[in-house]
Amino acid sequence: MSVHPFVQLKLEIAQSYPDFESKATHAWATILEEMARVTKAIADQGPDYLPIVEYSELNSLSPDRLAELRRKGSFVVRNVVSRDEAVSWKSGLDQFVSSNPNVEGTPENNPQYFQIFHTKPQILARSHANVLNTQTWCNNLYTHSSDKEPVDLNTPLTYIDRFRIRQPGFSWGAHPPHIDGGSIERWQDPKFRSCFDSILKGDWQQHNPYSLKGRIGARISTKGLPNQASIFRTFQGWLALSDTAPREGTLKVFPDILLSTSYIMLRPFFAPTKDSSDPAYLAAENWRFDLNSPTFHGVSQAANAGVSGAARPFEFSDSTHPHMNLEQTMISVPTVHPGDMVFWQCDVVHAVEKEHIGREDSSVMYIPAVPDCPQNADYVKDQLQLFLKGCPPPDFPQGRTENDYALHGTVQDITNPVGRKALGVF
Ligand SMILES: [Fe+2]
Repeated sequence: MSVHPFVQLKLEIAQSYPDFESKATHAWATILEEMARVTKAIADQGPDYLPIVEYSELNSLSPDRLAELRRKGSFVVRNVVSRDEAVSWKSGLDQFVSSNPNVEGTPENNPQYFQIFHTKPQILARSHANVLNTQTWCNNLYTHSSDKEPVDLNTPLTYIDRFRIRQPGFSWGAHPPHIDGGSIERWQDPKFRSCFDSILKGDWQQHNPYSLKGRIGARISTKGLPNQASIFRTFQGWLALSDTAPREGTLKVFPDILLSTSYIMLRPFFAPTKDSSDPAYLAAENWRFDLNSPTFHGVSQAANAGVSGAARPFEFSDSTHPHMNLEQTMISVPTVHPGDMVFWQCDVVHAVEKEHIGREDSSVMYIPAVPDCPQNADYVKDQLQLFLKGCPPPDFPQGRTENDYALHGTVQDITNPVGRKALGVF
């Protein structure tokens, strides 16, 4: 009789880590205990739980503050560029959109998430010295392991992405809580899995989300989801172009990267013994170690799709990950202003608010932090060739060339040498 692939995977992991059952069971109980404490603190504080730092203080933050930023995994950096400059970029995007009535985006009849990569404001923002400095600073929150990974944290690379101009009153349900870059691959791919060794050893407090170990060359997608980064981003990020408060169509995050990752990585090995309607459903003693059922708990939906070929993002809900209390703990980022940036580490569970009850549009350009390493440099090389033709970057569906649009940007718009280097233009 053939063994179900999920059982096989669970067995393989159990055999790879000594005393897996007892260590994982102990870790699971301590994670649940800490989860109950932290989720209450997050729910009590709401958006204020998220750290805000000034661009000008990035290099003088205290060790305690840095530790807080690392643990929470998401933060706002204020005033990366001046308000005036960001507002002028926003006007440039508005002008671009109004000059090109057939511009591609979602929803099709009233585009707000634009499938557009090469406008002049985007090119100027990505190559701005302060934006690149902030990326470098984010990259340097990571550290090399004893494997001395071939990553230059001090050389930022540009990942070309899109922008959004989201209108008030528009409901958006397309981005429930999820993690970018792989689902079942986190367990399946031995290299990717090695990022989470400490957790699988039962030593979750020792997990370092910022170690480069296993990050480079990890197989983050076996099925190739569209619109997913294939490169190593230390942080996903965006630059705010509007004044946007919570409930105005902004980003939401689960703000404890150590805890969420630890919980998520052990979740497939535990099943509830009580129905979710039982008041004691969440108690650790009511969850049993489960190696033999053909369910990869908490991941099955994404994983099953991966097996059948219809790739799905790695999504989270109260039924898949009940201890995270997502309704209360997915907090909105605090009010941002044009010129602020928001970053979230690559394992952070994040979502986009469904609602936008504000009066103004909520607008951002997506600009992640990307360090130089062979995998990323190869991508940037291909990306540049496509950019020169006005085409979308390699990670995105190939559509029409943007060179046909009025007011499109070109490589010549980048005058800053660091910006040119980040894009691979010399
Ligand atoms: Fe995402």
